[in-house]
Amino acid sequence: MKDKVVIVTGGAVGIGGAIVEKFADRGANVVIADIKAEQGERLIDTLKKKGSEAEFIWTDVSDRSEVENLMEKTVERFGRLDYAVNNAGIEGDQADTAACTEANWDRVLEINLKGVWLCMKYEIRKMLQTGGGAIVNISSVAGLVGFRNLPAYTSSKHAIIGLTRTTALEFAQKNIRINAVCPGVIQTEMIDRVTGNDPEKRKQYESMEPIGRMGRPEEVAAAVVWLCSDEASFVTGQAVPVDGAFTSE
Ligand SMILES: NC(=O)c1ccc[n+]([C@@H]2O[C@H](COP(=O)([O-])OP(=O)(O)OC[C@H]3O[C@@H](n4cnc5c(N)ncnc54)[C@H](O)[C@@H]3O)[C@@H](O)[C@H]2O)c1
Repeated sequence: MKDKVVIVTGGAVGIGGAIVEKFADRGANVVIADIKAEQGERLIDTLKKKGSEAEFIWTDVSDRSEVENLMEKTVERFGRLDYAVNNAGIEGDQADTAACTEANWDRVLEINLKGVWLCMKYEIRKMLQTGGGAIVNISSVAGLVGFRNLPAYTSSKHAIIGLTRTTALEFAQKNIRINAVCPGVIQTEMIDRVTGNDPEKRKQYESMEPIGRMGRPEEVAAAVVWLCSDEASFVTGQAVPVDGAFTSE
Protein backbone atom coordinates (compact mmCIF):
# COMPACT_ATOMS: atom_id res chain seq x y z
CA MET A 1 0.00 0.00 0.00
CA LYS A 2 3.03 2.26 -0.42
CA ASP A 3 2.06 5.76 -1.62
CA LYS A 4 -1.65 4.90 -1.40
CA VAL A 5 -3.82 7.41 0.45
CA VAL A 6 -6.50 6.48 2.98
CA ILE A 7 -9.00 8.46 5.06
CA VAL A 8 -10.25 6.89 8.30
CA THR A 9 -13.16 8.68 9.96
CA GLY A 10 -13.33 8.31 13.73
CA GLY A 11 -9.68 7.27 13.47
CA ALA A 12 -8.43 8.90 16.68
CA VAL A 13 -9.16 5.99 19.04
CA GLY A 14 -10.68 2.51 19.24
CA ILE A 15 -11.38 0.47 16.11
CA GLY A 16 -10.60 3.46 13.87
CA GLY A 17 -7.26 3.99 15.63
CA ALA A 18 -6.30 0.34 15.01
CA ILE A 19 -7.30 0.68 11.34
CA VAL A 20 -5.12 3.80 11.02
CA GLU A 21 -2.12 1.96 12.52
CA LYS A 22 -2.53 -1.05 10.23
CA PHE A 23 -2.71 1.08 7.09
CA ALA A 24 0.38 3.00 8.21
CA ASP A 25 2.22 -0.30 8.85
CA ARG A 26 1.45 -1.26 5.24
CA GLY A 27 3.05 1.99 4.00
CA ALA A 28 -0.09 4.00 3.22
CA ASN A 29 -0.39 7.77 3.81
CA VAL A 30 -3.13 8.22 6.38
CA VAL A 31 -5.65 10.97 7.11
CA ILE A 32 -7.49 10.81 10.43
CA ALA A 33 -10.85 12.61 10.32
CA ASP A 34 -12.31 12.98 13.80
CA ILE A 35 -13.66 15.42 16.36
CA LYS A 36 -11.16 14.27 19.00
CA ALA A 37 -8.27 16.57 18.13
CA GLU A 38 -5.98 15.73 21.04
CA GLN A 39 -6.11 11.95 20.63
CA GLY A 40 -5.99 12.27 16.83
CA GLU A 41 -2.89 14.50 16.86
CA ARG A 42 -1.22 12.18 19.38
CA LEU A 43 -1.70 9.19 17.08
CA ILE A 44 -0.37 11.25 14.14
CA ASP A 45 2.80 12.05 16.14
CA THR A 46 3.32 8.34 16.89
CA LEU A 47 2.92 7.45 13.21
CA LYS A 48 5.27 10.22 12.07
CA LYS A 49 7.94 9.00 14.53
CA LYS A 50 7.67 5.60 12.82
CA GLY A 51 8.25 7.29 9.43
CA SER A 52 4.68 7.48 8.12
CA GLU A 53 3.09 10.42 6.33
CA ALA A 54 -0.05 11.26 8.27
CA GLU A 55 -2.42 14.17 8.82
CA PHE A 56 -5.24 14.99 11.25
CA ILE A 57 -8.18 16.90 9.75
CA TRP A 58 -10.86 17.96 12.24
CA THR A 59 -14.16 16.79 10.75
CA ASP A 60 -17.68 16.25 12.02
CA VAL A 61 -18.92 13.65 9.55
CA SER A 62 -22.52 14.81 9.88
CA ASP A 63 -21.63 18.25 8.45
CA ARG A 64 -21.64 18.41 4.65
CA SER A 65 -19.22 21.31 4.27
CA GLU A 66 -16.73 19.75 6.69
CA VAL A 67 -16.83 16.45 4.80
CA GLU A 68 -16.31 18.27 1.51
CA ASN A 69 -13.40 20.18 3.07
CA LEU A 70 -11.89 16.87 4.29
CA MET A 71 -11.76 15.50 0.74
CA GLU A 72 -10.33 18.74 -0.70
CA LYS A 73 -7.62 19.00 1.99
CA THR A 74 -6.70 15.33 1.60
CA VAL A 75 -6.21 15.63 -2.15
CA GLU A 76 -4.37 18.96 -1.73
CA ARG A 77 -1.95 17.30 0.71
CA PHE A 78 -1.51 13.84 -0.83
CA GLY A 79 -2.68 14.24 -4.45
CA ARG A 80 -5.26 11.45 -4.50
CA LEU A 81 -7.61 9.20 -2.53
CA ASP A 82 -7.38 5.41 -2.83
CA TYR A 83 -9.15 4.01 0.22
CA ALA A 84 -11.69 5.28 2.74
CA VAL A 85 -12.95 3.73 5.95
CA ASN A 86 -16.17 5.29 7.21
CA ASN A 87 -15.90 4.24 10.84
CA ALA A 88 -17.07 7.25 12.90
CA GLY A 89 -20.13 6.36 14.94
CA ILE A 90 -21.89 6.80 18.24
CA GLU A 91 -24.06 4.40 20.23
CA GLY A 92 -26.46 7.08 21.54
CA ASP A 93 -28.64 6.63 24.62
CA GLN A 94 -29.79 3.24 25.83
CA ALA A 95 -33.59 3.09 25.97
CA ASP A 96 -36.20 0.93 24.29
CA THR A 97 -38.11 2.08 21.20
CA ALA A 98 -40.98 3.53 23.22
CA ALA A 99 -38.60 5.52 25.43
CA CYS A 100 -36.12 6.61 22.72
CA THR A 101 -36.19 10.41 22.37
CA GLU A 102 -36.47 12.22 19.07
CA ALA A 103 -33.22 14.06 19.82
CA ASN A 104 -31.37 10.77 20.32
CA TRP A 105 -32.87 9.29 17.16
CA ASP A 106 -31.85 12.31 15.07
CA ARG A 107 -28.34 12.58 16.49
CA VAL A 108 -27.52 8.88 15.99
CA LEU A 109 -28.90 8.79 12.45
CA GLU A 110 -27.15 12.06 11.52
CA ILE A 111 -23.72 10.78 12.50
CA ASN A 112 -23.97 7.04 11.80
CA LEU A 113 -26.00 7.05 8.59
CA LYS A 114 -25.97 10.52 7.05
CA GLY A 115 -22.26 10.72 7.94
CA VAL A 116 -21.47 7.55 5.99
CA TRP A 117 -23.52 8.70 3.00
CA LEU A 118 -21.91 12.18 2.96
CA CYS A 119 -18.43 10.70 3.21
CA MET A 120 -19.08 8.23 0.37
CA LYS A 121 -20.59 10.98 -1.78
CA TYR A 122 -17.36 13.00 -1.73
CA GLU A 123 -14.93 10.06 -1.50
CA ILE A 124 -16.34 8.53 -4.68
CA ARG A 125 -15.96 11.83 -6.57
CA LYS A 126 -12.26 11.91 -5.70
CA MET A 127 -11.72 8.21 -6.44
CA LEU A 128 -13.30 8.55 -9.89
CA GLN A 129 -10.70 11.21 -10.77
CA THR A 130 -7.85 8.68 -10.37
CA GLY A 131 -9.50 5.56 -11.75
CA GLY A 132 -11.03 3.90 -8.69
CA GLY A 133 -10.58 2.84 -5.09
CA ALA A 134 -12.05 0.88 -2.21
CA ILE A 135 -14.38 1.89 0.61
CA VAL A 136 -15.23 0.06 3.83
CA ASN A 137 -18.16 1.20 5.98
CA ILE A 138 -18.21 0.08 9.60
CA SER A 139 -21.60 -1.37 10.42
CA SER A 140 -22.03 -3.79 13.35
CA VAL A 141 -23.60 -7.10 14.33
CA ALA A 142 -26.41 -4.67 15.20
CA GLY A 143 -26.68 -4.23 11.43
CA LEU A 144 -27.51 -7.92 11.04
CA VAL A 145 -29.70 -8.73 14.05
CA GLY A 146 -31.88 -6.76 16.47
CA PHE A 147 -30.34 -5.23 19.60
CA ARG A 148 -32.54 -4.35 22.57
CA ASN A 149 -32.50 -0.75 23.86
CA LEU A 150 -30.49 0.67 20.97
CA PRO A 151 -33.23 1.27 18.35
CA ALA A 152 -31.60 4.24 16.60
CA TYR A 153 -28.15 2.64 16.60
CA THR A 154 -29.48 -0.69 15.30
CA SER A 155 -31.49 1.04 12.57
CA SER A 156 -28.49 3.10 11.48
CA LYS A 157 -26.26 0.02 11.29
CA HIS A 158 -28.83 -1.97 9.26
CA ALA A 159 -29.19 1.02 6.92
CA ILE A 160 -25.42 1.22 6.39
CA ILE A 161 -25.57 -2.28 4.89
CA GLY A 162 -28.38 -1.30 2.48
CA LEU A 163 -26.46 1.80 1.45
CA THR A 164 -23.24 -0.21 1.02
CA ARG A 165 -24.96 -2.74 -1.28
CA THR A 166 -26.62 0.01 -3.34
CA THR A 167 -23.45 2.05 -3.80
CA ALA A 168 -21.45 -1.10 -4.62
CA LEU A 169 -23.88 -1.85 -7.47
CA GLU A 170 -23.71 1.73 -8.73
CA PHE A 171 -19.90 1.82 -8.92
CA ALA A 172 -19.01 -1.84 -9.59
CA GLN A 173 -18.02 -1.03 -13.17
CA LYS A 174 -16.16 2.13 -12.21
CA ASN A 175 -13.47 0.20 -10.27
CA ILE A 176 -14.69 1.24 -6.82
CA ARG A 177 -15.37 -1.64 -4.43
CA ILE A 178 -17.56 -0.93 -1.41
CA ASN A 179 -18.04 -3.29 1.52
CA ALA A 180 -19.22 -3.17 5.11
CA VAL A 181 -17.65 -4.80 8.14
CA CYS A 182 -19.86 -5.89 11.03
CA PRO A 183 -17.84 -6.13 14.25
CA GLY A 184 -19.08 -8.09 17.25
CA VAL A 185 -18.35 -6.87 20.79
CA ILE A 186 -14.96 -5.15 20.57
CA GLN A 187 -13.06 -3.80 23.57
CA THR A 188 -13.06 -0.01 23.08
CA GLU A 189 -14.21 3.13 24.90
CA MET A 190 -17.65 2.57 23.34
CA ILE A 191 -18.02 -0.70 25.25
CA ASP A 192 -16.71 0.97 28.43
CA ARG A 193 -19.49 3.53 28.06
CA VAL A 194 -22.21 1.00 27.24
CA THR A 195 -21.29 -1.20 30.21
CA GLY A 196 -20.56 1.80 32.45
CA ASN A 197 -17.41 -0.17 33.38
CA ASP A 198 -19.63 -2.32 35.61
CA PRO A 199 -17.92 -5.76 35.90
CA GLU A 200 -21.28 -7.58 35.83
CA LYS A 201 -22.40 -5.78 32.68
CA ARG A 202 -19.00 -6.40 31.08
CA LYS A 203 -19.39 -10.13 31.75
CA GLN A 204 -22.83 -9.97 30.17
CA TYR A 205 -21.34 -8.45 27.01
CA GLU A 206 -18.47 -10.97 26.97
CA SER A 207 -20.96 -13.81 27.29
CA MET A 208 -22.72 -12.62 24.10
CA GLU A 209 -19.62 -13.79 22.27
CA PRO A 210 -19.58 -17.56 21.53
CA ILE A 211 -15.79 -17.28 21.15
CA GLY A 212 -15.64 -16.52 24.89
CA ARG A 213 -14.08 -13.04 24.85
CA MET A 214 -14.44 -9.59 23.37
CA GLY A 215 -12.69 -8.88 20.09
CA ARG A 216 -9.68 -6.58 19.81
CA PRO A 217 -9.71 -3.48 17.56
CA GLU A 218 -6.78 -4.85 15.52
CA GLU A 219 -8.84 -7.96 14.68
CA VAL A 220 -11.39 -5.72 12.97
CA ALA A 221 -8.62 -3.64 11.37
CA ALA A 222 -7.12 -6.74 9.72
CA ALA A 223 -10.39 -7.46 7.88
CA VAL A 224 -10.77 -3.81 6.83
CA VAL A 225 -7.26 -3.58 5.38
CA TRP A 226 -7.74 -6.89 3.54
CA LEU A 227 -11.02 -5.65 2.02
CA CYS A 228 -9.25 -2.55 0.70
CA SER A 229 -6.30 -4.54 -0.65
CA ASP A 230 -6.04 -6.00 -4.16
CA GLU A 231 -6.34 -9.46 -2.57
CA ALA A 232 -10.06 -8.69 -2.22
CA SER A 233 -10.39 -7.59 -5.86
CA PHE A 234 -13.59 -9.63 -6.47
CA VAL A 235 -15.25 -8.76 -3.14
CA THR A 236 -17.76 -5.93 -3.27
CA GLY A 237 -21.25 -5.21 -1.90
CA GLN A 238 -20.71 -7.49 1.12
CA ALA A 239 -21.40 -7.15 4.84
CA VAL A 240 -18.60 -9.11 6.49
CA PRO A 241 -19.06 -10.12 10.14
CA VAL A 242 -15.94 -10.05 12.32
CA ASP A 243 -17.81 -11.25 15.32
CA GLY A 244 -16.55 -14.36 17.11
CA ALA A 245 -19.68 -16.22 15.87
CA PHE A 246 -22.03 -13.66 17.51
CA THR A 247 -24.47 -13.86 14.59
CA SER A 248 -24.19 -17.65 14.25
CA GLU A 249 -26.42 -18.32 17.24
N1 LIG B 1 -16.87 -1.42 20.01
C1 LIG B 1 -17.75 -2.26 19.54
O1 LIG B 1 -18.09 -3.26 20.19
C2 LIG B 1 -18.36 -2.06 18.18
C3 LIG B 1 -19.11 -3.11 17.64
C4 LIG B 1 -19.68 -2.97 16.39
C5 LIG B 1 -19.51 -1.79 15.67
N2 LIG B 1 -18.78 -0.77 16.21
C6 LIG B 1 -18.64 0.42 15.40
O2 LIG B 1 -17.28 0.68 15.16
C7 LIG B 1 -17.05 2.09 15.01
C8 LIG B 1 -15.96 2.53 15.97
O3 LIG B 1 -16.39 2.21 17.28
P1 LIG B 1 -15.43 2.23 18.55
O4 LIG B 1 -15.88 1.14 19.42
O5 LIG B 1 -14.01 2.35 18.14
O6 LIG B 1 -15.97 3.59 19.20
P2 LIG B 1 -15.21 4.79 19.99
O7 LIG B 1 -16.28 5.54 20.66
O8 LIG B 1 -14.11 4.21 20.78
O9 LIG B 1 -14.60 5.64 18.78
C9 LIG B 1 -15.44 6.31 17.87
C10 LIG B 1 -14.67 7.42 17.20
O10 LIG B 1 -15.58 8.12 16.33
C11 LIG B 1 -15.42 9.51 16.55
N3 LIG B 1 -16.64 10.25 16.22
C12 LIG B 1 -17.83 10.26 16.88
N4 LIG B 1 -18.68 11.12 16.32
C13 LIG B 1 -18.03 11.69 15.28
C14 LIG B 1 -18.38 12.66 14.30
N5 LIG B 1 -19.58 13.26 14.30
N6 LIG B 1 -17.47 13.00 13.37
C15 LIG B 1 -16.25 12.43 13.35
N7 LIG B 1 -15.85 11.49 14.25
C16 LIG B 1 -16.73 11.14 15.20
C17 LIG B 1 -15.09 9.63 18.03
O11 LIG B 1 -14.51 10.88 18.32
C18 LIG B 1 -14.14 8.45 18.20
O12 LIG B 1 -12.81 8.79 17.88
C19 LIG B 1 -18.42 2.75 15.29
O13 LIG B 1 -19.06 3.03 14.07
C20 LIG B 1 -19.17 1.69 16.06
O14 LIG B 1 -20.55 1.80 15.91
C21 LIG B 1 -18.22 -0.88 17.45
